Amino acid sequence: MAERLDGEAAAGAVYRLATAFYASQAVFAAAELGLADLLRDGSRTSAELSTATDTDPQALSRLLRMLASADVLVEGEDGSFALTAVGEALRSDAEHSLRDFTRLLAGPLAQRAWGGLLDSLRTSEPQLGDGLFAYLTEHPEMAGVYDGAMSSVTKHFARALAAAYDFGAFHRIVDVGGGQGELLIGLLRANPSLRGTLLERPPVVDGARAKVAAAGLTDRCDVIGGDFLQQVPAGADAYVLRGVILNWDDRPAITLLGNCRRAMTAAGKVLVVDTVMPEHVQATAVDRAASGVDLNMMVMLGGRIRTENQYRELLEQAGFALERIVTVGQSPSGSRVHSVLEGTPA
Ligand SMILES: C[S@@+](CC[C@H](N)C(=O)[O-])C[C@H]1O[C@@H](n2cnc3c(N)ncnc32)[C@H](O)[C@@H]1O
Repeated sequence: MAERLDGEAAAGAVYRLATAFYASQAVFAAAELGLADLLRDGSRTSAELSTATDTDPQALSRLLRMLASADVLVEGEDGSFALTAVGEALRSDAEHSLRDFTRLLAGPLAQRAWGGLLDSLRTSEPQLGDGLFAYLTEHPEMAGVYDGAMSSVTKHFARALAAAYDFGAFHRIVDVGGGQGELLIGLLRANPSLRGTLLERPPVVDGARAKVAAAGLTDRCDVIGGDFLQQVPAGADAYVLRGVILNWDDRPAITLLGNCRRAMTAAGKVLVVDTVMPEHVQATAVDRAASGVDLNMMVMLGGRIRTENQYRELLEQAGFALERIVTVGQSPSGSRVHSVLEGTPA
């Protein structure tokens, strides 16, 4: 009897895993339609929401029901819907908004990439043709979602990083692939004598420059457009790569790290800020997040999340020794643990 119950429970667990994408797609639809923004000032009926989102009333009411069952919305006695605390995080203007992140991680790009998982398993190739960044260059609207997604989590992460790692000893840092500048802005604010350079793909630099200017940091921060696989700005004493190395397979990652090695001062450091994959994964939320992002990197970009030993080898091949690992903590979205892997010239 106990065995049969165990079997049923196991089947239930498999069912929930197999259908987890129902919730993922419902939340994506909510994010794409901007439902949380429409509910910001209070509850609304299904009919009102269907008019505002130009959707079929019957179909939308079925989505709203699913979202209520997933604790994103709550249905009132009168049949209207309101945001729960979870739903609030889908508002564009929420302090910890994950709206753009949801549109990126569960939207058409991710659907296409994950739809090819079996192909990636056979070929070890990613699924996005010329690559994610080439795609973003061709699709400015999606690029806006991508940059917004990164900024929304990185601006909170910057505070945690500044608290966990002492940047006060450096004169100038380069944020390599620094996105919209949220990390560098946070680090410069926390360290008043520090100067910074942000290197990004040319389509991203205008947005980054505007953010640096709005933060009043133009005199301490340059923003440069370029390709970090070609070269990085010279003469800094630290090169920060946050959420960058995991995007790349070993060969380009070594090229990028080698470019930092050549560009830095003699006493320079490279700071790879990423998740470290445990040697042996447990059935925990943190390990599931790390291994999920690892697969996401595989299908989207051909990148990976590396173990400590894999990082050590990668750094060595680019001319660095892995000096130490400083744990920053869990990301604001509560999923992965991030660390600083500090490399010094070997
Ligand atoms: C995952 S995002 C991380 C952004 C930022 N470091 C953060 O933590 O929010 C990776 C960044 O690398 C940039 N990137 C990709 N290829 C690049 C290249 N060849 N040269 C410069 N930047 C590049 C992308 O534009 C993107 O902003």
